Amino acid sequence: MCRLENTAAYEAYRKELLDARAGDAPTVAVCAGTGCLAMGAKGVIEAFESAIEEKGLDATVGVKRAGCPGFCERGPVVVIHPEETCYLQVKPEDVAEIVEQTLAGGKVVERLLYEDAASGARSQRESEIPFYAHQERRLLASNIKLDSRKIDDYVALGGYSALAKALSSMSAQDVLDEVKNANLRGRGGAGFPAGRKWEGSRDAPADERFVIVNADEGDPGAFMDRALLEGNPHSILEGLILGAYAIGAHQGYVYVRQEYPLAVDNLLHAIEEATRLGFLGEDILGSGFDFVVHVHRGAGAFVCGESTALMTALEGRVGEPRPKYVRSNVKGLWGKPSVLNNVETWANVPLIINHGAEWFTKVGTETSKGTKIFSLVGKITNTGLVEVPMGMTLRQIVEDIGGGVPGGKKFKAVQTGGPSGGCIPESMLDLPVGFDELSDVGSMMGSGGMIVMDEDTCMVDVARYFTEFLTDESCGKCIPCREGLRQMLRLLNKIVEGKGTREDLATLEEISEVTSVASLCALGKSAPAPLLSTLKYFREEFEAHIDEKRCPALSCNEMVRYWIDPDACKACLICTRHCPSEAISGAKKQIHVIDQELCNGCGSCWEVCPDKFDAIRRISGAPVPDPLPEDQREVRA
Ligand SMILES: Cc1cc2nc3c(=O)[nH]c(=O)nc-3n(C[C@H](O)[C@H](O)[C@H](O)COP(=O)(O)O)c2cc1C
Ligand code: FES
Repeated sequence: MCRLENTAAYEAYRKELLDARAGDAPTVAVCAGTGCLAMGAKGVIEAFESAIEEKGLDATVGVKRAGCPGFCERGPVVVIHPEETCYLQVKPEDVAEIVEQTLAGGKVVERLLYEDAASGARSQRESEIPFYAHQERRLLASNIKLDSRKIDDYVALGGYSALAKALSSMSAQDVLDEVKNANLRGRGGAGFPAGRKWEGSRDAPADERFVIVNADEGDPGAFMDRALLEGNPHSILEGLILGAYAIGAHQGYVYVRQEYPLAVDNLLHAIEEATRLGFLGEDILGSGFDFVVHVHRGAGAFVCGESTALMTALEGRVGEPRPKYVRSNVKGLWGKPSVLNNVETWANVPLIINHGAEWFTKVGTETSKGTKIFSLVGKITNTGLVEVPMGMTLRQIVEDIGGGVPGGKKFKAVQTGGPSGGCIPESMLDLPVGFDELSDVGSMMGSGGMIVMDEDTCMVDVARYFTEFLTDESCGKCIPCREGLRQMLRLLNKIVEGKGTREDLATLEEISEVTSVASLCALGKSAPAPLLSTLKYFREEFEAHIDEKRCPALSCNEMVRYWIDPDACKACLICTRHCPSEAISGAKKQIHVIDQELCNGCGSCWEVCPDKFDAIRRISGAPVPDPLPEDQREVRA
């Protein structure tokens, strides 16, 4: 691999790679993302390597350590190209059969294909699986096609062609105009137009300016940025170089949390490879443009994702926000103009330069263009990362892609936007996803967290959970956020414990208003959103907790009692064995009984009671029936 001195050398290099890869040689792509690795992907990769060698297929069949394609819940994921045959939950023990049947014999191993839970139908190709079929994967699709540690894979797929195009045939202004015309809005939270941010930086008088990648990804449960960084790090670097070219920056930073070791490792490796090939460093592709990238590992504080806090941390100080008298694109890192964009925002830039703004804006709503990656989690059949066109409805995401709520439970709400977002009720499921559509209903796009909740979720507890998270994560620098959150949490704890009053609700609304108006940064300003949206759409749940001391979702420990239905109990002893407070008495053939004095309301009996018996009842706001007298406890037939 030698340095490419100009765009002609780049084109020649790419042609050489494509020629060498021509033909239909099979490749086994095994997801080597964090999720699949945790489920044993390393063993699967090793099993493939040795089985392929043993069969003498190693000259014709390649094995790739690929990036996360999103269906992590069913990992380890294996996709065999060119047929795109997708095997799920593959174990090392399955590998010999795959090599024998599929690679050597051209047949499909049916039992490892995706199976539709309702119809039992199997899908062979990745794109036929309902989870993928309804998505529009522009950013994530490449992950499974490339080895994230091989720059040649990226180049063969067209990687760095946007950079070559920009440097050889577009001025900095042309690149800026293309991004502005695409109306690319920031994918990290507020949805600020990237082109306008870049232009502000470019126009600010300064001797030096910076471009920065926000890879902090602090939202609980979100892993979109991690998947992109781990799976396709060059796409982010390419976007960053293009941004630097557009505004005239010569240094860039990636702020990535230390808890993402694989992402950090793959990124550092990608920087090294890109530098060696001449996409980074001095005189990039002979254009005269110089640019280098530094990686900063963050210690994982949520507030460090906030733009000014992140820049303060990059300067080597404690990552706390600072007042924004002047926007950071004008006065940011070390007081110089600095463009900070989210990982996914940067990853969109090469696509826009390659295909043009018109192509990009063909997908989306009036004000939100392109696609968005969501991390679909919670009470949903298909958990994972989904990339959808803006404007797709929440219902399509939850039902068509997510496969709905499992276990026959009823959908209750979907939480979007992470700790700064809100809960959207079922009546609004036909809402199209877009920055403005979501904020119009009191939630937000955020960085793409999407948590589905069913009838067992207590919405008061959800508000309490996010408020507790933000209380812990508030840096404490400004009083409205530090004290406001603490008082909000105190009142919410009171309500879930059954000690709340109607006045507490009024106080909560009052504190929310002050916190959102007076806080220094958007952590405090947006902190009341989860509470206010749940109060708006699920007020009756707050009132039931306060007026009737009842948790309608039967979830709040302090308000739920557990009781064993004598007609359903089969004396299987499972609940007695799992009860941590030894509150359940019973023996073989003897109906079990919970001692209400000893029970701590943890619900483990309810969780472990076999579905076929379904003997544990949860009771809230009503008295628990008296236990049967001892002499009547023999199990009924
Ligand atoms: C408390 C807080 C945490 C944030 N965390 C992140 C984060 O983890 N990742 C991110 O990209 N943006 C985060 N943001 C938004 C950033 O401040 C900033 O708006 C964003 O990185 C700009 O990039 P974008 O325009 O491409 O979205 C956070 C904001 C706040 C207030
Ligand atoms: S980590 Fe393998 S599918 Fe996500």
